[in-house]
Amino acid sequence: MRDKSAHIPLDHASVSPIEAAEKLRAFKEQMLKRRTVREFDTRPIDQALLDDIISVAGSAPSGANKQPWTFCLVQDPSLKSQIREAAEKEEFENYHGRMGERWMNDLKEFGTDHIKEFLKEAPCLIVVFKRIYEVDEAEGKQNNYYVNESVAIAVGMLLTAIHLAGLVAVTHTPSPMNFLAKVLERPENERAFLLIPVGYPKESTLVPDIKKKPLDEIRIAY
Ligand SMILES: Cc1cc2nc3c(=O)[nH]c(=O)nc-3n(C[C@H](O)[C@H](O)[C@H](O)COP(=O)(O)O)c2cc1C
Repeated sequence: MRDKSAHIPLDHASVSPIEAAEKLRAFKEQMLKRRTVREFDTRPIDQALLDDIISVAGSAPSGANKQPWTFCLVQDPSLKSQIREAAEKEEFENYHGRMGERWMNDLKEFGTDHIKEFLKEAPCLIVVFKRIYEVDEAEGKQNNYYVNESVAIAVGMLLTAIHLAGLVAVTHTPSPMNFLAKVLERPENERAFLLIPVGYPKESTLVPDIKKKPLDEIRIAY
């Protein structure tokens, strides 16, 4: 028999099919406008907005509810500049040999290079760390479960919350990203997962004219 002693009633609002269709249509319309933005206004973000965004991400499902993530909000100009300097060093190597010809070709339509002005302009850098293990006083290192899957789901929810808050972001991977743990003095059990500058878009910014795969290509009905 499963032990249900520590269970509580589900807090669930039922939605009629008509209401569901309406809500989902509005949500879809809004989500289809989400774009990666690489040029930011320097206007600061209200702290309460940032806290709500992190709370949404922190509500994500995770393997055995281990919640193997830490979200660092970097707004201090000196830390941001250390991060930019280290990121540009790695990106210089990436754009000058490490990425290879095919990757460089795939990146052409984005017009990106190793210069990362957005690490200075964006008022907040959210540095997401995955927690590989926890340290238990009695048992020592305890590995977390499905860490990548869990943190990726949380980041999906984070990006959704950022968009719903009227903010924009760039999912950035200046790999290898171990400099982030060093600069932010994170503990040994944490590894940098993504670097996400967040803010308001620079006026009249442009985004690459890319297309998403149509529904028929990504949905297979059995
Ligand atoms: C895991 C991951 C890593 C990414 N790394 C970078 C990056 O380092 N630099 C960058 O400018 N964009 C990066 N992107 C953004 C993608 O280029 C962008 O999501 C893609 O082109 C689709 O555009 P959209 O987000 O506007 O739909 C990354 C996105 C993901 C999901």
